[in-house]
Amino acid sequence: MNNRRMKNGILLLLLLFVLTLISLGHAHYSLGKEKVTHLRFFYQENLNGDHPTTVLVAKPKGTTVNASNLAPFGAVSVLDTPLTEGQDPNSKVVGQAQGLSVSVGQDKPMSVFMVDFGFTSGEFNGSSISVLSRNPILETDRELAIVGGRGKFRMARGFVNLHRNYINVTSGVVIVEHNVTVFHYE
Ligand SMILES: *[C@@H]1O[C@H](CO)[C@@H](O)[C@H](O)[C@H]1NC(C)=O
Ligand SMILES: *[C@@H]1O[C@H](CO)[C@@H](O)[C@H](O)[C@H]1NC(C)=O
Ligand SMILES: *[C@@H]1O[C@H](CO)[C@@H](O)[C@H](O)[C@H]1NC(C)=O
Ligand SMILES: *[C@@H]1O[C@H](CO)[C@@H](O)[C@H](O)[C@H]1NC(C)=O
Repeated sequence: MNNRRMKNGILLLLLLFVLTLISLGHAHYSLGKEKVTHLRFFYQENLNGDHPTTVLVAKPKGTTVNASNLAPFGAVSVLDTPLTEGQDPNSKVVGQAQGLSVSVGQDKPMSVFMVDFGFTSGEFNGSSISVLSRNPILETDRELAIVGGRGKFRMARGFVNLHRNYINVTSGVVIVEHNVTVFHYE
């Protein structure tokens, strides 16, 4: 009789233990209320010069990359590009775009962007949005998809509307306006 009680007691303890483990495994993560934020900044690309913001790191054998053939199929570039408050390259830097641009177009220039837009000032200092998107770099107006983010943009989703304001092929300077619409929780 005592033995049986003890067994039942042990079984009950085991059951409680397992239930505790299960409930811990399902710990609820609360996201809070969803909100929409609009951000506007300018991507200050400089392809030439002493401190290019984009560097070619790989290209297919026998391929020439130059001003008239910027993004041959298979080329991979790494970028670290300042984001400024205004169109003027000397205006306040509010973040950095850091990531990869991969040329994926067989017949015409087409890239895929894998970029972390990290903010370094204001309300979103320390937060970032993650872009993973097709990017038709030669088109004046484009849209990129936001697939996530860090900090205040944790679990973000959204899109970025791009408009190229300025291009100088000789100097390699390209300025692209970015209007961000991002859905997030913090
Ligand atoms: C760029 O490279 C292509 C292919 O090699 C060549 O035909 C063209 O003349 C080059 N253009 C410039 C501006 O260097
Ligand atoms: C942004 O955050 C970093 C790290 O917390 C801090 O060092 C820096 O001063 C902040 N910059 C601005 C402009 O608030
Ligand atoms: C970004 O928004 C501003 C004003 O909010 C507007 O004037 C501009 O045309 C927009 N640009 C793009 C690329 O959506
Ligand atoms: C483009 O850049 C070159 C080289 O820096 C410069 O000489 C030229 O004036 C620029 N063109 C325009 C339209 O700004």
